[in-house]
Amino acid sequence: MAFFLFLSPFIHPQLQHIVAKMTLLDTLLFYVVHFVDRLEACQGTFLGRNMPPSTSPYGLLEPHPTVVASKLLVRKKFIDNGKQFNMIACSWIQFIVHDWVDHLEDTEQVHYPDLDDEQLYRHARLVTAAVIAKIHTIDWTVELLKTDTLLVGMRVNWYGLLGKKFKDLFGHLLGPILSGLVGLKKPRDHGVPYSLTEEFLSVYRMHSLLPDTFVLRDVTSSTTEEKCPPILHEVPMWELVGIEGERKLSTIGMDQMLVSLGHQACGALTLWNYPSWMRNLVAHDINGEDRPDPVDMATLEIYRDRERGVARYNEFRRNLMMIPISKWEDLTDDEEVIEALHEVYGEDVEKLDLQVRLQAEKKIKGFAISETAFFIFLLIASRRLEADLFFTTNFNSKTYTKKGLEWVNKTETLKDVIDRHFPEMTRKWMTCSSAFSVWDSMPTPANYIPLYL
Ligand code: HEM
Repeated sequence: MAFFLFLSPFIHPQLQHIVAKMTLLDTLLFYVVHFVDRLEACQGTFLGRNMPPSTSPYGLLEPHPTVVASKLLVRKKFIDNGKQFNMIACSWIQFIVHDWVDHLEDTEQVHYPDLDDEQLYRHARLVTAAVIAKIHTIDWTVELLKTDTLLVGMRVNWYGLLGKKFKDLFGHLLGPILSGLVGLKKPRDHGVPYSLTEEFLSVYRMHSLLPDTFVLRDVTSSTTEEKCPPILHEVPMWELVGIEGERKLSTIGMDQMLVSLGHQACGALTLWNYPSWMRNLVAHDINGEDRPDPVDMATLEIYRDRERGVARYNEFRRNLMMIPISKWEDLTDDEEVIEALHEVYGEDVEKLDLQVRLQAEKKIKGFAISETAFFIFLLIASRRLEADLFFTTNFNSKTYTKKGLEWVNKTETLKDVIDRHFPEMTRKWMTCSSAFSVWDSMPTPANYIPLYL
């Protein structure tokens, strides 16, 4: 207790009463993690929560996760996502939820020969992370939630209502609405320390985006009016996972990989579209080696949400102040779905697992994700920018270097990045506007009403 009192000014005020009740060991562990949190960095920290852990009275196996997966999730026939979202968009989001990369050392080295390797690496990583965050905000998300409102909303998050030209000329003036969240003088966490959350992870369990085969294209052929390269062959997805999969993937060049992924639609987030090959998945262990026992991912995901105390669907909705359901017919008119829900959950709508419903929900026009998932997305997307020291106080040339900041400012889309590395690729193989749409689809129609500046 004395130890707690001594260090209590260091603890965020809203967490003090919780820490005061912890055992000595838990308190010590908490201090280590909290110290990292206070540095405004989040690597290695605990996941937070958007709502209290579930108060559901049901057991972990009620109903059995394998029954839920087999009756409601597993793919009967692959349903794709139309032209809206391609396999680059799918790979992108997996990497966003799991990892960061860097590639800018060479560029920075030319301009800053005095930086040593470690400094160069750190600057390059910072710049790359900012470019990724920007593309995620004003390109990927705009394609995921393809409506005019979201287009404006996401651009306002980055540039503000006054738009890019104004911000490039005058910098961040007049507050977040007019100049965007990026470049705020101080991070804003609205009194709650920022972290990704259990609920965020749950709604991003999007394995139904994955197809059954990867369609390899011939990028050496000459381009046609449709800009659609011929198919060479289809590789079953299960051959591309694990150590053996990595070896196979490493034989495919980056240009062939990008064009092939760009031309392939990803799966739709809907019932009965969970890839069957993931029910017998050879997953990696912590050392990157193949685990000896295959995993049934469809079952495991239902189990994971339950064991982590993520609320089941109705409780989840109530916590978000969204209307819960009282009978299966409130969910859908589809007789087949209602019958399957009866078979798995009986009459008890409170038992319905979040994952099942996220796939079953009728989508808003233009949205590739459900409305419930969108609520969580809305809560996190802006906070991710405004609570980050590197997008607010330190979004400047002192931290990023002058060239680094220019690099972030002049990159708007993934297509810009591809064009930098493969100057001919999109001209030859892409008709659409965003590199996240299926590449031979129509460009986004011109809109003469100025939606953003
Ligand atoms: C070949 C492609 C993929 C494979 C082999 C794969 C495999 C896995 C595995 C083994 C887990 C851990 C399961 C556990 O023990 O809880 C996992 C978790 C997860 N995956 Fe995937 N995945 C793939 C693609 C994707 C995609 C496209 C997304 C889209 C967002 C995604 C999102 C997630 C999320 C959110 C989790 C939960 C992470 C956590 O609990 O910390 N994955 N995946």
